[in-house]
Amino acid sequence: MQNRREFLRTAGLTAGAALVSQRSGWAQTTNEPPKSVSGPASLRAHGKAHGLLVGCAVNAAALAGNPAYGALIAEQCSIVVPENAMKWGPISPAPGKYDFHEADALMDFAQKNGQKVRGHNLIWHEELPKWFPGPITKANARQAMIDHIQTEMQHFAGRIQSWDVVNEGIDPKDGLPHGLRKTPWLELVGDDYIDLAYKTARRADPKALLTYNDYDIEYPDQEKKRDAVLAMVRRMKASGVPIDAVGVQSHLKADLAPPGKELQSFVREMAKLNLQVFVTELDVADRKVPGTVLERDAVVAKVYRDYLTMMLAEPNVKAVLTWGITDRYTWLNGQKEDKRADGKPLRPLPFDGNLQPTAAFYAERDAIDTRRADFA
Ligand code: G3I
Repeated sequence: MQNRREFLRTAGLTAGAALVSQRSGWAQTTNEPPKSVSGPASLRAHGKAHGLLVGCAVNAAALAGNPAYGALIAEQCSIVVPENAMKWGPISPAPGKYDFHEADALMDFAQKNGQKVRGHNLIWHEELPKWFPGPITKANARQAMIDHIQTEMQHFAGRIQSWDVVNEGIDPKDGLPHGLRKTPWLELVGDDYIDLAYKTARRADPKALLTYNDYDIEYPDQEKKRDAVLAMVRRMKASGVPIDAVGVQSHLKADLAPPGKELQSFVREMAKLNLQVFVTELDVADRKVPGTVLERDAVVAKVYRDYLTMMLAEPNVKAVLTWGITDRYTWLNGQKEDKRADGKPLRPLPFDGNLQPTAAFYAERDAIDTRRADFA
């Protein structure tokens, strides 16, 4: 157990920097953000200066009900992704029936604010419609998957920067060939479901970049999964299956040293395959970090700074999205297994529960500024 002095030293960030983030918080009497984080000081503006799309996942209910939340996202993001509003379950109440109203609201918001939109996600083993297990069988699953991809992509055709076509399709722990995850899609459609999904997606919206998105491929000890993803995208490229990018979700842990050379090599292998890389779901869980809020924020910020500095040194890394923008709505505080020992909420994102910038905001912005401007 580190003593307090050692703890702060290793955090590599004085409490003073974190204090700045506290003092420069939002004035309580206005939604107007402080000048230090808005306009030319925003993540969006710094990203633009370095040829980088910067944004976050958007909580549909918060966007509809909290104007300050919407103002923050409009101010800070050049790209957004729906946290849940484009997943099959939430949009399909019955077979063949779709309700896109939450996703359409985000599309309207993004258009009004000149933002690009990621589509997330089309084929996943989670968030399947509640009706899925009944009517979908081996006999009709292939067509059902094609129909779903076509229906959803054509609804947004021409307006999506990139789609997570297949999400989290690899899990070597399942012991299947090529490290494929044991999913309903693999069982019902067969082992060519991934190739079929991407070929269908290319036809459905040729303007969208087709992305494969996964997690637990970042840390040194995750090489088995990382290698399986690499092998899959190599095979796809070699066999002419359309794919344009890989999403590295980046759900990081503040108590671990940030990912390093192993992930850097993976990103460079993606570049050799002419694939873009997106940091798609960045958050830094401080569940196991002791200390005060300022001390925790300093450790979280150091992970943001070190991780993004490493990733943004790679020219094919083209976007950074955090999974949410404010701790108020982070999925991590809804996780039973992710509670802190002291019972306090986690602080994984660039803005705290009061929509005030944290030390992570300044660390993310500094890391963006380390990126060569000619990577634009
Ligand atoms: O909207 C319903 C609400 O009407 C209902 O009363 C309530 C209780 O059943 O559920 C609400 O839906 C929940 C939804 O979040 C919105 O809050 C779902 O049950 C819940 O499963 C869903 O969790 C999301 C999870 O993906 C599963 O889809 C999280 O918000 C979201 O942050 C998380 O994000 C995933 C990425 O999509 C993929 N990568 C991992 C990442 C974290 O798990």
